Amino acid sequence: MERNIKTIGILTSGGDAPGMNAAIRAITRTARFHDMNVVGIMRGYQGLIEKEFVRFTSSSVSNTIQRGGTILKTARCKEFMTAEGRKKAYENMLEAGIDALVVIGGNGSLTGAQLFAREYDIPIIGLPGTIDNDLYGTDSTIGYDSALNTIVDCVDKIRDTANSHDRIFFIEVMGRDAGFLAQNSAIASGAEAAIIPENGGTDVDQLAEFIERGKRKSKNSAIVLVSEAHKNGVGGAMYYAERIKNEYPQFDARVTILGHLQRGGTPTAYDRILASRMGYAAIEALLEGQRNVMIGIKNDEIVYVPISRAIKMDKPINQELIAVLNVLSM
Ligand code: F6P
Repeated sequence: MERNIKTIGILTSGGDAPGMNAAIRAITRTARFHDMNVVGIMRGYQGLIEKEFVRFTSSSVSNTIQRGGTILKTARCKEFMTAEGRKKAYENMLEAGIDALVVIGGNGSLTGAQLFAREYDIPIIGLPGTIDNDLYGTDSTIGYDSALNTIVDCVDKIRDTANSHDRIFFIEVMGRDAGFLAQNSAIASGAEAAIIPENGGTDVDQLAEFIERGKRKSKNSAIVLVSEAHKNGVGGAMYYAERIKNEYPQFDARVTILGHLQRGGTPTAYDRILASRMGYAAIEALLEGQRNVMIGIKNDEIVYVPISRAIKMDKPINQELIAVLNVLSM
């Protein structure tokens, strides 16, 4: 052990994701196994600034692995992005005797962790907790698989009504600036197309050709998964549906924006196992003397990724996924 870590703090920050509770449980129980004290920090960095600390025992996390959301609550904290906010957070940590932090969150939350670690001598371990799957260095983030399954479930239902009315549905999904949710839910639901930011959006004429192609093959309805990302006023399901309606009035188009229902619900078995492995690895990493790394998973092996890389590098979308959808939707 590089230094004697007696007490760790855990927080969840940014958008909640199914599986965060499984991660909190794994971190707590592994830390307790090693006789460390555990402090649950409520509402992310906001709670660190406002001293919202709760002493956690093994039983504090009983009956939580199956629950969506986060028992620690979460927030997007602007104050932590200021030097004064981080100073307050550091002083509160010292006062509470917290020697190390485990931060579960997405890009913005790990960016906050990186700033904090640069200014103060605190070991921080990040866990990728976001439905967007947009962190470099990990094949999957906690919550992504659950959100994907929720989307596919919704698309299956929309397909029934699309089919009955011979309609084209533009279904908008989350992912901020990343197209993982849109592309993979399109493949899993047998959709006709996906519009993702990694491809710089889609040409409307090409989209119409896709839909027409399906119609010629006697498919009377179509599903297009659209990533929520907007660039220079272009993007989102509304935008594409409007353009199709105006330029191809022969199509009967409708829009569904799935919104926050994608973030709720019980985590899938995959996310529970991933979160459990990552939570366990976070404490093992601290015991090995690791600091300022994010726990990732690559080819089913746990890896340590410097937080600076996880947040800065673009995570590319596998081009094979694009080819698979194009060919299979014919
Ligand atoms: O990062 C997770 C995420 O759900 C994104 O997909 C989405 O763009 C964003 O959070 C929405 O954030 P909020 O719940 O604060 O509106």
